[in-house]
Amino acid sequence: LHHHNRDFDQNLPFQRITEKYLNRREMLTWVGLSSIAFTVQSSFISKLHAQTALQSTLKFQEVSHKESIHHEVAKEYSSEVLLSWSDSLFDNSPAPLSKYSKEEQEKRFGFNNDFIGYLPFQKDSMDSSHGLLGVNNEYSLIHLMQPGLKAYDRSQITKEHIDIEMASVGFNVIEVKKENNKWSVIKNSKYNRRITANNTEFKISGPAAGSERLKTTEHPSGFETTGTMCNCSGGTTPWGTFLSGEENFHGNFTNIHKNNDTEQENGKRYGIKGRPYVNWGDYYDRFDVTKEPRSPNHFGWIIEVDPYDPYSKPIKRTALGRFKHEGCGITLNYDNRVVAFMGDDERFEYIYRFVSSKKFDQSNPSQNKDLLDNGTLSVAKFYEDGTLIWLPLIFGNGPLTKENGFTNQADVLIETRRAADLVGATPMDRPESVTPHPTNGRIYAMLTGNKKRTQQNTDFLNKRVKNIYGQIVEFMPKSNIKNTIDYSQDTYSWILLMECGDPQNPQHQAKTSPDISKNGWFIRPDNCQFDNKGRMWIGTDSGSAVSQTKFCDGLYACDVTGRGRGLTKQFLRAPIGAEITGPCFTPDNKTLFVSIQHPGDTPNSTYDNPSTRWPYHNNELPPLPSVLAITKKDGGIIGE
Ligand code: FEO
Ligand code: CA
Ligand code: CA
Repeated sequence: LHHHNRDFDQNLPFQRITEKYLNRREMLTWVGLSSIAFTVQSSFISKLHAQTALQSTLKFQEVSHKESIHHEVAKEYSSEVLLSWSDSLFDNSPAPLSKYSKEEQEKRFGFNNDFIGYLPFQKDSMDSSHGLLGVNNEYSLIHLMQPGLKAYDRSQITKEHIDIEMASVGFNVIEVKKENNKWSVIKNSKYNRRITANNTEFKISGPAAGSERLKTTEHPSGFETTGTMCNCSGGTTPWGTFLSGEENFHGNFTNIHKNNDTEQENGKRYGIKGRPYVNWGDYYDRFDVTKEPRSPNHFGWIIEVDPYDPYSKPIKRTALGRFKHEGCGITLNYDNRVVAFMGDDERFEYIYRFVSSKKFDQSNPSQNKDLLDNGTLSVAKFYEDGTLIWLPLIFGNGPLTKENGFTNQADVLIETRRAADLVGATPMDRPESVTPHPTNGRIYAMLTGNKKRTQQNTDFLNKRVKNIYGQIVEFMPKSNIKNTIDYSQDTYSWILLMECGDPQNPQHQAKTSPDISKNGWFIRPDNCQFDNKGRMWIGTDSGSAVSQTKFCDGLYACDVTGRGRGLTKQFLRAPIGAEITGPCFTPDNKTLFVSIQHPGDTPNSTYDNPSTRWPYHNNELPPLPSVLAITKKDGGIIGE
C-alpha cells in the first residue's frame, strides 16, 4: 500500500491542491476548468488569486452569520411560510393548541418537519407549479407544543401528551400549487395524508420480511407493523415514490432487554440502553423491550410511500438494511439498475450502498414497484491511498455465517451494523446525507462531526480529535467509461472536498476554499441537495456547537467544479434553535422548499416562554416548525 499523504496541504491554494491530487485527465473532465488555468505556473497562482478571487457561479448576495430570532434569505429572494406544524391538511380550522389532542394532530401537519420531496401532480411530467410534497416529521418537542411543561422534563408527561407525540411524527403527503408566484396547500385534496407512529399500517418487504425476529404480539406474521418514527432525511425515486429514513428509533424504547434475551446484544448495538428520549413504553407495550423485545426490529428501515395512491400501504424496505438511516440518495446506473447511497448517522458508523438486481423501466411501472426489495447492500471501507472498496453484506460470505450468529439474510439485514463491523467497514464521523451528483458521477457524503473521535482512532479521513466541525467526502467509481457511470463497481476513489470550519481560525484546522467569506464557512454539514446546474446546497445542524460559533444554522451553496469548487456561500440563515433541512428544488429550479426544523429549541425554551416565536412572532403562538417556499423575486432560477 502506498501511504502518500492525501491531506489538503495547509498552505496551497485550493486550485493547486485539486491539481496535485488528481491527474490531469481527471481534472479536465471533472473540474472543467479552461486549459489556460492548467498552464498557469504555480508561482503565478497567488498573484492570480489576488487579482481574480476564485469565483462562484452562484450569484446571490450572502446573508451574514448571526444569532437572531428571525430567519434571513439572500436579498434577491423571498421566502413564504407554506405550511407549519398544526396547520390542518383537510380544512381551514385553526389549531386549538390549548385543547390539543391526538385526534386534532392526526389531521394536522406534524412537528419538526425534515425531508421534503416534490413530485409533479401529473406523474412523469415536469410540472413545477402543481405537485405533491412528501414531507416527514422527525420527532416532537412536547414542551414547545403544549403549555405548562418544563423543557426536556418527562416527569410531567401524560398519556395524552404521548398520544399527541405519536400522532405528530411520521410522514405527510400534501398537494401544493403555485399561482401568481405564490404557493399554497390544496386543503382537502384527496392526496393529502398523515402517516404517523400509531395510526398507519405498514407492510414489511424484502429479504427480512416474515423473519421470526419480526414477529410480535401485535404483528405475529412478521410481514407488517404499525407506524413509523424518527424519520430524518429521505429520497425521491424515478418511479414516483418518496423514501424516508428511520433514524434515532432507539430513543423511543423504554427499558433494556432482559438478560439472555436473544435480542439483547442487538438492542445494545443500536443504542437501546434504558435511556429513552420519550417514555412511550410507559403506556404502549410495543415500546417497552422487556415486554416486546423484537419490536425495535420494526424500526431503523427505509420506508417507501406512494403519494399518487392515497390508499396505498407504506412499505418498510428491508433490503436497504437496518440502521439509523439518515436518508437515501437514489440514482440510476448506466444499465438502469437503481443505486442508493445511505448514511448511518451515529458516531463511528458507516456509509452504505444498495444496488438493485432488477432494472428500472419507465414504460413498465409494475416492474418498478418492488425494485428496492432485491439487490446487494454493501458497506464502505476507505483506504489511505484514496481507494474505497464496497464490501457486500451477503449471508454466507466471509464472516457473515452461522458461526457468527447469522442464520440467513434476514439476520444480516436486521443486524446490519454487526455485519458491517465484521467485514471491517470504516467508522466515520457521523454520516448524514450521502447524495449522488446529478451528472458528474460523484457522490458526496456529509459527515457532521464526532466529538468522541480521539487521537487513538483518528484516520486519514476522520482526522480531527473531538471533531465538532464535520467534513465532506467525495467519491466516485474508479473507472467510468465515457458517458457511462457504473456505480455498481466495487472499487471507487475518494477525496475530501472540505474539512469544515473557519479557515481563518487555526484551532478549527479547517481545510476549505481559501476564498470563503467570513459569512460563507460553516460547521456540521447534514443535508445535501443539488440544483439543475449541479451545484451543491448544504444544510447545517450545529446543535449545541452554536454556543461556540455564536451564529444560527444555515443553508450554504457552492459549485463542485470550476473556480468556485467548494467556495460555499450562505444563502439562508435559520432562526435561533433551528436547523435547515430537506432542501428540495422543483424541476424548473424556480422554487426551493426547505424545512425549518425545531425553531426555538434552545435550553429552557418552552411553549410558555420560548426563545423565539418564529415565524409569526405572535405572543399567542409558540415557535412553529415550518416548510418555507423560497422563490427569486424576479421569478427566475434559484442561484442565477
Ligand atoms: Fe436527524 Fe442525522 O440528522
Ligand atoms: Ca439530518
Ligand atoms: Ca443531524
